[in-house]
Amino acid sequence: MSMMNSMVEWIDQRFPMTKVWNEHLAQYYAPKNFNFWYFFGSLAMLVLVNQILTGVWLAMSYKPDATLAFSSVEYIMRDTNWGWLIRYMHSVGASAFFIVVYLHMFRGLMYGSYRKPRELLWIIGVIIYLAMMATAFFGYLLPWGQMSYWGAQVIVNLFSAIPVIGDDLSVWIRGDYVISDVTLNRFFALHFLLPFILAALVFVHIVALHKVGSNNPDGIEIKKGPKGNRWSDKAPADGIPFHPYYSVKDIVGVAGFLFLFAAVIFFKPGFFGFFLEHPNFEPANPLKTPLHIAPVWYFTPFYAILRAVPSMAGSALPGVVAMFASILVFFFLPWLDRSPVKSIRYKGPISKAMLAMFVVVFLVLGYLGTQPPSPVKTLIAQISTALYFAFFLLMPIYSKLDKTKPVPERVTK
Ligand code: HEM
Repeated sequence: MSMMNSMVEWIDQRFPMTKVWNEHLAQYYAPKNFNFWYFFGSLAMLVLVNQILTGVWLAMSYKPDATLAFSSVEYIMRDTNWGWLIRYMHSVGASAFFIVVYLHMFRGLMYGSYRKPRELLWIIGVIIYLAMMATAFFGYLLPWGQMSYWGAQVIVNLFSAIPVIGDDLSVWIRGDYVISDVTLNRFFALHFLLPFILAALVFVHIVALHKVGSNNPDGIEIKKGPKGNRWSDKAPADGIPFHPYYSVKDIVGVAGFLFLFAAVIFFKPGFFGFFLEHPNFEPANPLKTPLHIAPVWYFTPFYAILRAVPSMAGSALPGVVAMFASILVFFFLPWLDRSPVKSIRYKGPISKAMLAMFVVVFLVLGYLGTQPPSPVKTLIAQISTALYFAFFLLMPIYSKLDKTKPVPERVTK
């Protein structure tokens, strides 16, 4: 033990190890009333680590070459020791990442975690979300299946709808006039790079979180409340040390998550064509367009918005603008919500109904985006798109008008 202590001391004189441990874990006081919704931040970190590790191992056997890519994935699946497991951990991990992050964002919506003083924390979160989308998009081209190829073709072509520079921009992105070997090579490079940028962004996200402190299901600031508890008389009375209380509690979330994650990996890795789409088991064929092109489920709400907005004078621009706006609008949320309270617990019926409506509309759009269009489906997608934007754009009005309940002085439970 004394050797251990002197080693820690040796390090502390050269690197602030104990200081960082205390400031961010053992003496970092988080609200005592976290519920299971607070599992998803640490789970997102776990999945990010899983993606980076399995990704690096996949890259050891994968070939970013249009003539070899598809068969190199088959080689990983059949001939590399445990290659199938690493590949499924990565492909299922991609979907798990979005499930976890969508739940993490929903928690933020419920408890008003984007409100002052956490605006920047939220904005960094939205940047992380954009980086995740880019990473997933680049990654999906790599197996060089039919959906990889044609999905990328559709999405890169969207950029050509931008006036004046659009055509040149899409050629610049592809490095060619169509998706080709050149595109595959650069998407591989970017797909390898972006997760490390994501990791850096997550670090900044946590720095911002620890500057302002966590919100909680009551949406009240524990830092502003009374001070003093059994650990410190300077700490907020309603705070408990992150370690060991939440480090241990998070293990419960990790166990539950790993149980489900393993079940999908071992029993349903393609998850009914949602995690791995059926046409992607066929090698890319630039001469054969699949009948129905749809992105992976986590992009389909935005894809449905893109298709719902009619073209103007033969240009897809309005749909493209609506699609990007539907993602970028998240940035403005801290300033759209004018409610005097943060948490849904103390908001009134209109805010509750609007949030419920938003969830339903997001799921409906997600479903419609997986389906071939039909007149009825397009109409439903159009109504859903209008409601999607109504949730955000009418928020300054309904969040202010809505009745609220009195907020407690101290966190409730
Ligand atoms: C790689 C993805 C992400 C990781 C690893 C991550 C990690 C974390 C962690 C560990 C926490 C603290 C624990 C918790 O509150 O659950 C947190 C809090 C938070 N995150 Fe994220 N996050 C990610 C993406 C996002 C996104 C996309 C958003 C929003 C657009 C977001 C917004 C927030 C907010 C507002 C909080 C504070 C919540 C509160 O105190 O109530 N995060 N994040």
